[in-house]
Amino acid sequence: MAEFVDFTSEAFFRDPQAGVASLRAVGPVVATKFPIVGRVWVTTTYEAAARVLKDSALFTLRREGGVLVGLPWWMPKFIATFANNMLTMDEPDHTRLRSIVDEAFRRRAVLDMEPHIRAIADRLADELFAAGSRADLVQRYARMLPLAVICELLGLPPADRPKFIAWANSIANLTSALGFLRLISGMMRMRRYLKARLQVAREQGGEGLIAELVRVEKEGGRITPDEMISMVFLLLGAGSETTTHLISGSVFELLKDPVRRDWLAADWSRAGLAVEEFLRFVSPVQFSKPRYVRQDVDLEGVKLKKGDRVMAMIVAANLDKEANECPEQLDLERRPNRHLSFGTGIHFCLGHQLARIEGICALQALFTRWPALKLAVEPSQIHWRRRPGIRMIAELPVVAGV
Ligand code: HEM
Repeated sequence: MAEFVDFTSEAFFRDPQAGVASLRAVGPVVATKFPIVGRVWVTTTYEAAARVLKDSALFTLRREGGVLVGLPWWMPKFIATFANNMLTMDEPDHTRLRSIVDEAFRRRAVLDMEPHIRAIADRLADELFAAGSRADLVQRYARMLPLAVICELLGLPPADRPKFIAWANSIANLTSALGFLRLISGMMRMRRYLKARLQVAREQGGEGLIAELVRVEKEGGRITPDEMISMVFLLLGAGSETTTHLISGSVFELLKDPVRRDWLAADWSRAGLAVEEFLRFVSPVQFSKPRYVRQDVDLEGVKLKKGDRVMAMIVAANLDKEANECPEQLDLERRPNRHLSFGTGIHFCLGHQLARIEGICALQALFTRWPALKLAVEPSQIHWRRRPGIRMIAELPVVAGV
């Protein structure tokens, strides 16, 4: 078993290329250990990852009897309430739940939101240094934009946003026992809060996706109360955390290389391709959720047994030279760009259009308002949170520059 890559080490988050290369040297699918999940196969090539994600009948989220893969027996029951959403379900439940919210995330609907997203980004960029000449770009900007957008989509009051920020911060370090206790207490508070919001929507109606879920609930049959909490929880988490790390990771790359930053700022029509490359290069989600192997299978020459578990290693797929030329290089004009940052198959990211637009708006608003923005510390002093599977910069101190 390949245990020589520590997926929670600073080195792996700072630059995953060496870790990916050493795993790939073992083979396209490698047996390893992953925090919380335990023993699991991970894919190291684009093809192997795509196959696991696309074949959703062979590689499922749940084992026989509906037990979720990767959720250990000691995980308290209430956490399972949060794992009752489309990303933890196989067909037909997956489609039953996804179809309720699909419409709100279609290209048309998301494009309609663009001017509004731009306005939020402009306001946040204006306020970046409101509290001092040095600011943490993660907390004051990268976190605020996706959170504002998803809260509005859901119909959650702006006054409640600090609660989500505290909650998001509480789940950042999942590798320690203390981190785990914080996670549990944050989730308990979150569950009480979401239950209360759903009750308000039942009694008073309102705008947004929560009101829509209540409408579907009233029609009967398509969603249970637990699934409603879990859906809102998924959208809040998936919709804000991941995009936060895309934005902070992209800004970090541009601040390390002002020539690149100026090249992009000279023509914002370049931002679409640039964000696609940041998605690939930053890989904010490094691994898919674990899948359960339904029957013995040969995966790219490696024999997996029924009952094994496997994760698609997205960051490795994104660095596979069979998929892209010189994948180790950041090329903001890369085209075509074959990456799996949003997954693929039936669980292909619901928010991919939204995340792309948020990424573009965030970079444009930031560097238009602060064209000489600079890192306040050396790049080597930037640290990553030790959250397995997610690549998140802990803090990105910046100054306005001249
Ligand atoms: C699924 C990545 C933004 C909502 C996924 C998956 C990935 C991913 C890799 C598939 C996981 C798997 O198959 O195991 C990302 C990244 C984002 C991002 C990198 C930002 C840069 C968003 C946003 C939203 C969102 C903005 C919603 C507002 C979802 C949902 C799913 C999902 C609901 C589950 C879809 C399903 O099971 O059918 N995302 N995501 N994501 N994402 Fe995203």
